[in-house]
Amino acid sequence: MKPRGPLMIEHRLIENMIEIIKQKVKEIKNTGKVDSLFVDTAVDFIKIYADKTHHGKEEYILFRDCSKKDMSDEDTKIMNELIEEHKYGRKNVAELVEAKEKFVKGDNTLNIIIEKLNALVEFYPKHIEKEDKVFFPNSERYFTEEELQEMLKEFWEFDKTMIHKKYKLVVEQFYQSRRGADSVI
Ligand SMILES: [Fe+2]
Ligand SMILES: [Fe+2]
Repeated sequence: MKPRGPLMIEHRLIENMIEIIKQKVKEIKNTGKVDSLFVDTAVDFIKIYADKTHHGKEEYILFRDCSKKDMSDEDTKIMNELIEEHKYGRKNVAELVEAKEKFVKGDNTLNIIIEKLNALVEFYPKHIEKEDKVFFPNSERYFTEEELQEMLKEFWEFDKTMIHKKYKLVVEQFYQSRRGADSVI
């Protein structure tokens, strides 16, 4: 297996979640009601799985190694676009969380929630296609088979840390909500 293997498997799960979000947006529009628990679950998926776990491996391992190679201007341009798109995704999720929190407190932020969920639905498929069809195959050409296998090994090691990071974050968030901004981690 090449490093794009696990990344593409993760893309398929992200696509499934995006499809669910798409359906939920239709429901929200039809009923005028939003299930804040669904928004929390979607945010958790995007933050922990799509961003920390998946974009994490892309940025901290794949893109890091790519930037050590003498890539063509075109491939470098695509990689920089992908990094910017990750930043856009994070900003969008932060705005979604803010709108959901205001909604729970009684503000009418329904349209913002719909807009931010829709932005995710629009953004991810295009980003994923650019990686699957263009950047992953292009970038692999700069690496030897041995280097690709090393990268894959580093991916597995990275994944092993995620469950621990996730639950440290859960505990940290409880402490933060009880004690203000103090962090225990
Ligand atoms: Fe990405
Ligand atoms: Fe990706």
